[in-house]
Amino acid sequence: MGLSRRTFNALAGTTALGLALGGSGALTCAYAAQTVPTGPPPGTPGADGRGHTIGFDHYSLVVDGRRLVVWSGEMHPFRLPSPSLWRDVLQKMRAHGYNTVSIYVSWNYHSPAPGHYDFTGIRDLDLFLRMASETGLYVILRPGPYINAEIDGGGFPGWLTATEGRARTADPAYLSHVDEWLTRVNAIVARHLYTKGGGTVLLYQIENEYDAYVTDPAGRDYMAHLYRKVRADGIDVPLFHNDKGRNGYWVPGSFDTGGETGRWLYGFDGYPSPTLAPPDWGHFGAGGVKGGATASPRTPGFVPEFGGGWFDPWGGAWFDGKGYAESRRLRDAAYERRFYLTNLANGITLHSVYMTFGGTSWGWLPAPVVYTSYDYGAAIDEGRQPTAKLIPMHQLGHLLRHIPDFAKLDRAPDVEANAAADGLKAYHLTNPDTGAHVYVLRNDGDVPVASGLPLHGAGLPVPVAVPAQDARLLAAGIRLGRRKLRYSNAQPMLALTAGRQEIAVLTGRSGEETVTALECASEPTVTVLEGEAEQSYADGLLRVEAQLDGMTRVLVSGGGTSTPLLLLLADDETSVRLWPHDTPSGPVLVYGPALLRTAAVDGPSVGLTGDTIEAADLEVWGPRGIHELTWNERELKAHATSSGSLRAAQPLAGAGAVALPALTNGWLRKTENPESAPAFDDSSWTPAEKTTTHSTTPVPAGQPVLFADDYSFHYGDVWYRGRFTDATGAESVSLAYSTGTQGLLMAWLDGRPLGTHRMPVPDNKTVRKGSWADTAVFSVPEELRTDEPHVLSVLVRRMQHDQDGKTQDTHKVARGLTAVTFTGAAPQVSWRLQGEAAPDPVRGPQNNGGLYGERNGWHLPGYGDGGWEAVQLPRADRRQGVTWYRTSFRLAVDAGTDASVGLVLDDDPARAYRVQIFLNGWNMGQYINDVGPQHTFVLPNGILHTRGANTLALAVLSDGTTPSGPSDVRLTLLGAAAGGVPVAPVASPGRST
Ligand code: GAL
Repeated sequence: MGLSRRTFNALAGTTALGLALGGSGALTCAYAAQTVPTGPPPGTPGADGRGHTIGFDHYSLVVDGRRLVVWSGEMHPFRLPSPSLWRDVLQKMRAHGYNTVSIYVSWNYHSPAPGHYDFTGIRDLDLFLRMASETGLYVILRPGPYINAEIDGGGFPGWLTATEGRARTADPAYLSHVDEWLTRVNAIVARHLYTKGGGTVLLYQIENEYDAYVTDPAGRDYMAHLYRKVRADGIDVPLFHNDKGRNGYWVPGSFDTGGETGRWLYGFDGYPSPTLAPPDWGHFGAGGVKGGATASPRTPGFVPEFGGGWFDPWGGAWFDGKGYAESRRLRDAAYERRFYLTNLANGITLHSVYMTFGGTSWGWLPAPVVYTSYDYGAAIDEGRQPTAKLIPMHQLGHLLRHIPDFAKLDRAPDVEANAAADGLKAYHLTNPDTGAHVYVLRNDGDVPVASGLPLHGAGLPVPVAVPAQDARLLAAGIRLGRRKLRYSNAQPMLALTAGRQEIAVLTGRSGEETVTALECASEPTVTVLEGEAEQSYADGLLRVEAQLDGMTRVLVSGGGTSTPLLLLLADDETSVRLWPHDTPSGPVLVYGPALLRTAAVDGPSVGLTGDTIEAADLEVWGPRGIHELTWNERELKAHATSSGSLRAAQPLAGAGAVALPALTNGWLRKTENPESAPAFDDSSWTPAEKTTTHSTTPVPAGQPVLFADDYSFHYGDVWYRGRFTDATGAESVSLAYSTGTQGLLMAWLDGRPLGTHRMPVPDNKTVRKGSWADTAVFSVPEELRTDEPHVLSVLVRRMQHDQDGKTQDTHKVARGLTAVTFTGAAPQVSWRLQGEAAPDPVRGPQNNGGLYGERNGWHLPGYGDGGWEAVQLPRADRRQGVTWYRTSFRLAVDAGTDASVGLVLDDDPARAYRVQIFLNGWNMGQYINDVGPQHTFVLPNGILHTRGANTLALAVLSDGTTPSGPSDVRLTLLGAAAGGVPVAPVASPGRST
């Protein structure tokens, strides 16, 4: 429903701070505070073909004239290369209370070469945006052009490294590329704007944590250019930028928005230390621009990225990555309560958690600092499995969706906890329209705190308990349907009307004692339907006391209103089995299964889809007259209950067993690196003849440019072959190279291995952080110090381009060989190089590097490996170079089961080798046996054929100093549910295409 013209005129004529009409007539505007009353939030968004307004004041966004708290989570479509599974993650987010998904769109993922853009297949942005709107989620769109995101070049395409013009400035050469990118993205996004009813795109970010040139014309002009470009492309939703902290950078008015006002939001990112007290940095925080309210007083508190986990670096002595279990432990459910509730208490009403589903930096997507898994310790893990971190998100998300008071809060006078409450921090807020009071109670200490707190309207202090390192939100004076909650020491989760009754859910940790006081004009009839509860009535107040243990159901009838209220007191585990869902016929509340994906009401029938893991009861509250039930399209026998619900007669079945084959048989093996042999024909390779570059790495005097990017080789391995004759007296050769962390170089002279150099050597902390350039020095075998023709073959494993967080063009630091010198001789070397072949037309530019096997399709299904040697694992070869292993396996997972499968590689960590994993031709990541920490690689369904044949190819790069595997290679089940989404196979062309 759009803002009526009359309401709009009233706003504009009297109190609006500023507004602008988009060319199409769609409206976004800034409101003056106090003009928008607290009322029900907007309904579930979708592509409804209607116009919508998106405005804001300093309290919140205002959508169609109603306040909206944005409860968002970040996921990256490019980190889940199976579009069907996007829907799975989106549905899980929606079910667990998120109303918005925030996404980066990564330029490098879509552009293999200047002028070439791909938005098809796994890159189908249009499809993603459709799925988000079908799921009922708003979208925050973040297409950069720079995104950081621990992705290669921070999102910049490989080819941009070889172009002139300082990136992330108003340099015209750079801007011409940027405009091309934005034109392509925006052509898709413009079809999905919520303002036009084409989709659910609500907000749009330009640039990313841009903190260089903040006061410099190069920066201001750049931001102004991006702003104008995006507007010119028809994007009329509010735009914003994510300040790297609450620095006050890029607040409204800090750059030229072409005369538009009121359509720019200020946002700042927060990644606070999980071991320190949560900072107060929203509207209500103390301090100046850095901490408090002064950064942008007229826009709502907006955190476009709040750290919901953290990325994990490579293992080994240098970085010491510990794996994502540690990340998830440090930022667990209690962390979420402490930090996210503190944000709400500081006036943050647009809140996005980075990451909510981290996914996989497959192929050559990862920036050098991270390994393949981008699990991030997020609430939904890399294998798409829900974690306990979803519990607080679920409880808070549904609360913000159902109870409107939280969208408009002012600071209220401090409340003092009693003396026993040392260490308890209490925030007190109030809604000026409704008079509701909200409390956030946080315990930063290491012991639980129990106290009495003078909650508004309670008279005597109300007992509250907060476990160590935890927090809770309490409310007093909110409406639960027709009744008013005077106070409760349990956290409210939702209130809705289902048919003839109202339902309210309150939550807390299992075992907690709760007291809930409801205003009732006369004494109500109270029936405890499940569990144990005490009740008493006096002075117009019904008090219900219960210990949280599973679910306690208390039916309150009469007491001044004819509509009964079902109070559900649910402990954490139970609350996350309660699924509210809006349907056009009214709200539905489902209890029991592990996930509710969709709910539809058709006359007397309720159709539900979702997942079970264990067997689960199914119970539904919904509109009047429902008496038929289907689950995943199967009709169920159901009967009415005393709780006013419909309950399935039989429990839903859980997931069946999933059998995974052992990968012990059928392995075939073949060695490669023919490039190391002197006679190898390199005549088709690119001669290294350039003398100038746009790289930031200087070209050594008297040498050609050897940087691979200058010859259009941007991803993965690159080979060099240098020919020379005058090697008489040559003692050693020095190969300077640059790769990013964990890169390596191996060399052969006339086919003879000279050795391998690694960057950094795992225990060598002398390599300067940030440069990741080093020099390999090999001695020249005496018998090769001759004036005959020689060939020096060098293989460089590049670990991708640096990010450019500081706007220093660091993505342009050279990759590959940089300089070659000899001692004892000064031969003239003529170089040729070869990296990746033309990008795979389906899998894209980041799927392959330049290994011989990759250039010749050894990774692809259908490759003719008939002549390969049959072998058994484990292996213990000692060889410098590249060896491939292939096998195939069949899966026969039940069609109704969503099995999430991973591949595990394991071996003695002393063995120096690494493996690229190709499943059906898709590069699922890189395993480094002696670095870690990653051993399990997620194989996304769609690429993985769960009902059919699969081809697994492993490209093993071993440095020859130790025996090399692979040894233990096996499939593992990461989770299984009965249900899931339909999964279309991801195109996996074989050798012939
Ligand atoms: C932020 C950045 C994100 C990501 C994150 C760390 O500063 O905006 O792109 O890099 O840090 O994961």
